[in-house]
Amino acid sequence: MNEIDSREFRDALSSYPTGVAVITTRDRHGEPVGITVNSFASVSLDPPLILWSIDNDSGFYDVFMQTNHFAVHILRSDQRQLSHDFSSENANHFDDVGHDTGIANLPLLKTYSAVFQCEVSNRHSEGDHVILLGRVLELQNRPAKPLVFFAGHYHKIAD
Ligand SMILES: Cc1cc2nc3c(=O)[nH]c(=O)nc-3n(C[C@H](O)[C@H](O)[C@H](O)COP(=O)(O)O)c2cc1C
Repeated sequence: MNEIDSREFRDALSSYPTGVAVITTRDRHGEPVGITVNSFASVSLDPPLILWSIDNDSGFYDVFMQTNHFAVHILRSDQRQLSHDFSSENANHFDDVGHDTGIANLPLLKTYSAVFQCEVSNRHSEGDHVILLGRVLELQNRPAKPLVFFAGHYHKIAD
């Protein structure tokens, strides 16, 4: 079998356009945390299940291994800066954007196109990531144009 070159693998994966989401929860001190991801995907309609994956080296790895709940915010096309902020290391970006409170005290962003409040239903360690499966307990849908990530850059969908 040919060895897969990791640069080539990344580049090929980036040819698949995705949306962008910010996943939030609270750490063990009760502080809100959030991370930008594009690994979000739907899994099951009945029961309602979604997934995303976290890098084993993420600074938020321990938080998401411990928490029982998280919220997935699907970003709007005008939230590029927020996506950037929640993908940078030293964060508490909630000081800038504020938040509401959801089920199980989840910190919820004020702006999004959809939010799924989830209970962790399972975690699977695979390679250098852990897949988190969430059972959706609450959702809000505010249809808007999505922020799109493609080939390493943000994009908007044209009219
Ligand atoms: C568009 C985009 C998508 C990302 N997707 C993921 C992801 O699915 N899983 C993940 O663990 N990190 C992902 N990241 C990286 C994290 O957002 C980033 O590494 C983290 O928030 C910063 O914390 P750290 O430096 O402690 O890892 C993504 C970043 C960007 C900009």
